[in-house]
Amino acid sequence: MTKAPQRKITLKTPEFDDYAHFYAQRFEPGVVYWADDAPHTIPLEEYAGGRLLAQGMGEIIERIIVLDGEPIGTITARDFVKKTCQCTLGIVIASPQHWSHGYGSEALRLFLDFLAREGFALIVLETYANNTRAQRCFTKLGFRKYRVFYAAGSGRFVVQMIRKLPPPPPIGTLISPNDPHWKPPKR
Ligand SMILES: CC(C)(COP(=O)(O)OP(=O)(O)OC[C@H]1O[C@@H](n2cnc3c(N)ncnc32)[C@H](O)[C@@H]1OP(=O)(O)O)[C@@H](O)C(=O)NCCC(=O)NCCS
Repeated sequence: MTKAPQRKITLKTPEFDDYAHFYAQRFEPGVVYWADDAPHTIPLEEYAGGRLLAQGMGEIIERIIVLDGEPIGTITARDFVKKTCQCTLGIVIASPQHWSHGYGSEALRLFLDFLAREGFALIVLETYANNTRAQRCFTKLGFRKYRVFYAAGSGRFVVQMIRKLPPPPPIGTLISPNDPHWKPPKR
């Protein structure tokens, strides 16, 4: 069963100051976010500005993960194709001290509700095979392993996981064929 976090997780629309808040932790030398990735170095303006621009241009949908009022990370949908209602998910909690407290699962639950309301039907994500913490978090939220492939670019094995979202609520009232109001569409 999913561990409910003791403290409150919410999601908010990003502003520059949110990224600035956890920037130092997010890019702290020595913190490894994706398995054995090397730490990145990217100036704050480029990091925050780039993400805000990508949202302004509709390339990503991102929310700030907020813990008791404090921004602690990001959760992101990218590569989305409106036609197929499919997107790729990303999530980063900036400080390792906030990992494994259930915050990622709670942020994911809130973001999946939001994506379902936006009409997304299928969520895909990719994570390095040795990122077992992330996979455990995603599994708790109903993601299933779909396939594993070798990414020649990074020289790593990548696990692809998927989860279907419930369909959006119908317009009107659902009725069954036994209902006197049932009228099948004419062919
Ligand atoms: C991935 C991430 C968002 C998950 O958020 P989180 O708050 O740490 O996740 P949760 O606490 O909700 O769930 C983690 C689960 O993994 C378990 N876990 C912790 N370390 C683990 C490990 N090395 N192997 C397997 N499971 C592990 C935790 O016990 C917990 O399971 P439980 O609730 O059954 O006890 C967060 O850890 C993070 O930002 N990591 C760095 C960035 C990253 O890897 N992003 C994902 C890229 S695809």
